[in-house]
Amino acid sequence: MADDVVTMDKIVSLSKRRGFVFGSSEIYGGLGSSYDYGHYGLLLKNNVKAQWWRAMLQERDDIVALDSAIIQHPETWVASGHLAGFTDPLIDCRTCKLRFRADHLAQSACGRKPSKHPGETEECDLTQARDFNLMFQTTVGPVQEEGSTVYLRPETAQGIFLNFKNYLQFSRKKPPFGIAQIGKSFRNEITTGNFIFRTREFEQMEMEFFVPPDEAATWFEHWLEQRTNWYTDLGIRPDHLRLRPHTQDELSHYSSATSDVEYLFPIGWSELEGIANRGDYDLKAHAEHSGQKLEYIDTATGERYVPHVIEPAAGADRTFLAFMADAYDEDEIEGEVRTVLRLHPQLAPIKAAVLPLVRKDGQPELAGEIYRDLRERFQTEYDEGGAIGRRYRRQDEIGTPWAVTIDHRSLEDSTVTLRDRDSLAQERVPIGELGEEIERRLLQPWRSPKLQ
Ligand code: GAP
Repeated sequence: MADDVVTMDKIVSLSKRRGFVFGSSEIYGGLGSSYDYGHYGLLLKNNVKAQWWRAMLQERDDIVALDSAIIQHPETWVASGHLAGFTDPLIDCRTCKLRFRADHLAQSACGRKPSKHPGETEECDLTQARDFNLMFQTTVGPVQEEGSTVYLRPETAQGIFLNFKNYLQFSRKKPPFGIAQIGKSFRNEITTGNFIFRTREFEQMEMEFFVPPDEAATWFEHWLEQRTNWYTDLGIRPDHLRLRPHTQDELSHYSSATSDVEYLFPIGWSELEGIANRGDYDLKAHAEHSGQKLEYIDTATGERYVPHVIEPAAGADRTFLAFMADAYDEDEIEGEVRTVLRLHPQLAPIKAAVLPLVRKDGQPELAGEIYRDLRERFQTEYDEGGAIGRRYRRQDEIGTPWAVTIDHRSLEDSTVTLRDRDSLAQERVPIGELGEEIERRLLQPWRSPKLQ
């Protein structure tokens, strides 16, 4: 079925209906652009992060992991350039008292009705653009004096640079090697919206790959390829993914080359991940501000240099949204529209649902035994309430790839039916082979049925 059935509204509605994502603080009327992940959302996001860790750590031996603090020494943000330069140009309207990003005026709505863009009517009274720092500021300690001002990190990357020296000492790694981390970052974004696409609190999956300076261009290409493959291996349709190199005037202050991995969201092509060649900007800046030497010394040759850094920086929430958008589908079964999340089985929140056909004749007892066995191996759900068709639909909507149905025959010949979410094929499988069969299917390469 055509992928144009996907809209942001449908994803928002499914997310709420099925417990993936809720607006935060809803009982108080909500807090703009803050979201809570519900049971299935959390399981899906955990699977996205687990796949990222898998690609970074388990499948390679040149990357190590870190979980650094959210609040770091304030000098960090002086050295990184965030205190001076991590700003958006803002414009206030003295008439409607709203604030807009100067570079987003054409997409912003003025506060008065009928809705216009800021500056479009004679009554609009706009100020000059002023720079507004996106870092959230708070204080440590009981006294709010100047010296105790700290910031919530706007990116996880800096925690990695601060630990570079520790890692050289303990990890027995030498360039080329990487340090990876997943964690929350905070930005006081002025223009939020589009559900979890841009929020003020979000999770990043970042890796800083330290390389000899003359190898930086080669490693940059390596990471462009690796990261693109990661998305397509997990089922993102290749025609919905592209690499877009930044133009010279888009480049961040630290970057000599950046390409965005973009996904064709229902809102159009938008950034999923940025892959940057940061050169030696960060290590040199922190060396200068801290007075510490942040360089690699080859003990055999005595050669010393400041490594260059290639950084793939992805957002866990945006990646979650891309997987949801790519998976969302509708088809028709027996005259009824079915909503189905065609997620890669490795990402699906629940791998198998165990469903007794009826709530009697020993079926729930046998189903309970099967459920307890399967949940030892992977995330499994048991459901005995309501018509079987309705239970299948519920599992389809949360993306469960396989449903195990226990019927009267199961008690006679110890077999069950294994229903496939996408093909709807139902196969009879001996109960004793069920766990292995689902594990075998989980390990198989997968491509989106939406591609056929
Ligand atoms: N260390 C480099 C860095 O932070 P970035 O392009 O600003 O680069 C990396 O952020 C990724 O983090 C983005 O590609 C996006 O997926 C995610 N991200 C950034 N700001 C976000 C926001 N306000 N809400 C959700 N995700 C965001």
